[in-house]
Amino acid sequence: MDVYGVVGNPINHSKSPKIHLLFGQQVNHDIYYQRISATDENFVGTIERFFTEGGKGLNITVPFKEKAFQLADSLSNNAQSCGSVNTLTFSEDGRIHGESTDGIGLSKDLENNQVSLENAEVLILGAGGATRGIVPTLFASSVGSIILCNRTMAKAELLQEEFLPYGEITCLASEQLSGRFDLIINATSASLSGEIPDMPDTIIPGSVCYDLAYTYGETPFQRWAKQNNSAKSLQGWGMLVEQAAESFYIWRGVRPKTEEIIQRLQAELEN
Ligand code: ATR
Repeated sequence: MDVYGVVGNPINHSKSPKIHLLFGQQVNHDIYYQRISATDENFVGTIERFFTEGGKGLNITVPFKEKAFQLADSLSNNAQSCGSVNTLTFSEDGRIHGESTDGIGLSKDLENNQVSLENAEVLILGAGGATRGIVPTLFASSVGSIILCNRTMAKAELLQEEFLPYGEITCLASEQLSGRFDLIINATSASLSGEIPDMPDTIIPGSVCYDLAYTYGETPFQRWAKQNNSAKSLQGWGMLVEQAAESFYIWRGVRPKTEEIIQRLQAELEN
């Protein structure tokens, strides 16, 4: 049986084992998928041991996606642009290949929800690892422009500089935000502490809002966006399943159907 896993810290609540098990059942692939906790100190050793013991592929989650980028022997063009990696694959030749599937996960979930990225004016809140993972795919999906807004402006400016070669990207402070956007993405980790990033509520009416975070029920940002008449207000369950499907495809060569799995997860959450 081929063995896969997800490495992160904390990792106990990761839904990835469940999602990959459901994918395996759906396409009749007998796989085993485990949660692996690591620390900054033992991350590289943990990955190397997993692969030398015969493991086939790993997902990498917070806070190790940038370390995984450093560790990979080869990278996809997308991972190279992101500067982060969430999927490692052990090649036949013993090399470790890195890809980032978060961006495609987001764009597929937006497509599932009839949100078009073509020429869209996109506001991204936050300038951390989550933002890094999605910007190249947004540009590859033909967005018109991206505005970065972060509590710490200097971090947004660093990302802006890095991503300037890929498309139109500017930075604004929250008090400079006005009008509506085609899409507002909350890529901050504010939801994790029950908070909403600071921004004027006047930009929400008519804008599609997407919180990359996911939770039982609504995230604080999702609820707030709904209360302020967003055009749509979504959270990251669909993206989670879609990025996993993309990893599964890289490893197994078969793309699982995601709709029934997204629905099943959501139903379980509501009960
Ligand atoms: P991740 O990998 O989830 O992106 P990260 O790299 O630590 O995590 O980045 C977290 C992002 O959320 C940062 O942009 C952070 O803002 P700062 O750069 O100013 O620290 C943002 N963030 C976290 N909590 C926030 C809050 N309560 N309000 C606004 N932004 C917040």
